Amino acid sequence: MTTRKGIILAGGTGSRLWPITRGVSKQLLPVYDKPMIYYPLSALMLAGIREIAIITTPEDQAQFQRLIGDGGQWGLAFTWIIQPKPEGLAQAYLLAEDFLSGSASAMVLGDNIFFGHGLPELMAAADAQQQGGTVFGYRVSDPERYGVVAFDTQGQVQSIVEKPARPASNYAVTGLYFLDGTAPQRARAVTPSARGELEIVSVLESYLGEGALTVERMGRGYAWLDTGTHGSLLDAGNFVRTLQDRQGTQVGCPEEIAYAAGWIDAERLRAHAETYGKSRYGRYLSDLLRERAE
Ligand code: DAU
Repeated sequence: MTTRKGIILAGGTGSRLWPITRGVSKQLLPVYDKPMIYYPLSALMLAGIREIAIITTPEDQAQFQRLIGDGGQWGLAFTWIIQPKPEGLAQAYLLAEDFLSGSASAMVLGDNIFFGHGLPELMAAADAQQQGGTVFGYRVSDPERYGVVAFDTQGQVQSIVEKPARPASNYAVTGLYFLDGTAPQRARAVTPSARGELEIVSVLESYLGEGALTVERMGRGYAWLDTGTHGSLLDAGNFVRTLQDRQGTQVGCPEEIAYAAGWIDAERLRAHAETYGKSRYGRYLSDLLRERAE
């Protein structure tokens, strides 16, 4: 059982998806049949994390709470934190400093979707490292849109650069950060970048400078999906749909993960199944109960 605490950063203006996100938070938009936040939340749950701070804008917090409450329904405990203005990813560590109270953390961006058979094991290895930080490098065709890792000839990480005009590699840093308890202290030393944000790469550089950053490559057997543009949002939805329809399973189902982990019992799962009734989601939860009983 991990002592690491989780953070889901789900604020921001969503301006790249306007006009859709003028009226609703990006991380509440559907990715096929579930709200976007279900997917990063599921990733943290698969890492065994139950204490999670959710950071939202002041306007959107109530809607998130209406959707997922205090987490108790899944055997989780949510702490709700407001980010008054989107002043950068590193600010999350300042806002969550009291919540973390010195603990190591796993932060996931609320618009990042991860899928892959070995994901729990990959995250368990990152979790086992109590000192320093671990991030994941993922090969993409358009690295200039992300934080990019530069490797030296030995394959050692040299630097991480945010949205470089001329990327040094095709490896993007995903929005999943396993950092030790010193992250808030390091975030405090970060000054705003040219675009006026407290950049997450500045925090990562601080670890890197001490030789305390591991960049784990997430190989081609994993899907790291982006929801940053209208097209990629649609692609992510189609990916989830294709998998679910083919396998008859659900991607990003918190009830299933909580039940498999023993955080909720059969009775609680039955109650969830009843809540969702005859929807496909409800029938899936009923099937989970039946499968366990057989
Ligand atoms: O998705 C991975 C990438 O995420 C990394 O490769 C980059 O290094 C990292 O900077 C970030 O890049 P993005 O361009 O995706 O960052 P963006 O500003 O879009 O913010 C990512 C999410 O975090 C987005 O859903 C909004 C939310 N956010 C963003 C900021 C700046 C907040 O909640 N608060 C903020 O202050």
